Amino acid sequence: SAQTDRAPLPDDFLVIAHRGASAYAPEHSLYAYELALQMNADYIELDLHMTKDEELVVIHDGYLPTDSGEQAVGKLSFNEVQQIDLYEKEFMEKHPVSLPKEEDLLRIVSLKEVLLHFGDDAKYYIELKTPSSYKGMEEEVVHQLTESGLLPNKDSEANVIIQSFDKESLLKIHQLDESIPLIQLYSYEKGSIPKKEIRALSKYASGVGVPADFVTEEFVRSLHDAGLHVHPFTVNDAEEAQRLIELGVNGIFTDDPAIFLKK
Ligand code: G3P
Ligand code: CA
Repeated sequence: SAQTDRAPLPDDFLVIAHRGASAYAPEHSLYAYELALQMNADYIELDLHMTKDEELVVIHDGYLPTDSGEQAVGKLSFNEVQQIDLYEKEFMEKHPVSLPKEEDLLRIVSLKEVLLHFGDDAKYYIELKTPSSYKGMEEEVVHQLTESGLLPNKDSEANVIIQSFDKESLLKIHQLDESIPLIQLYSYEKGSIPKKEIRALSKYASGVGVPADFVTEEFVRSLHDAGLHVHPFTVNDAEEAQRLIELGVNGIFTDDPAIFLKK
């Protein structure tokens, strides 16, 4: 059946470090990812865009402030993107604390650099951002992960999970490597997922990533009945996390993996 095509997600509850331990360090920096691993996160979450020179860059927004105004990542070279001191400045405005002066750990990085830095010491939960605007993005992601020895995933353990709001992109990933569990993302505008759509989802996705306020007992049950895992985002409060765990979610995206550390 179509269901047996889907790559398995781990059975254990997953702590997914949203943009790294981004409550403590500039999001998507190597430093944020190092902290996440120190806090025992199961996966580090990366958002990917692609530059003009086809470098996969780990960054949330598709438009960046440059000296000549807002520019699409796809119109900039990786070198140009790297000149932007986006995260450190933003982070310091939000959290006026001193960061380590290890500049290399704070700058914008490429997927290649993250893979080189962590290798198989980390597991990766990767989001393809607006992939329809980046030709060849899926091929490049799977290529790099394969070169790094992270793919194909073994049955017992997913080194790599891929998520997107874009269904077509997830289907392309499946064509390239069927060992990768796929997470279909939903945005706040939706509010819930109709029954019919859950059935359609279960043909290709292993789970869904949804805003935390989608989650009710009934919602989790309807997804589980279709064999789909549920990963709400983004939860930074320990009590809210506990409530969701009691409702049966399979993992949680958090900026603060430390809320899951046993006291
Ligand atoms: O990937 C799950 C969640 O991170 C989606 O929202 O905007 O934080 O990438 P965003
Ligand atoms: Ca994301």
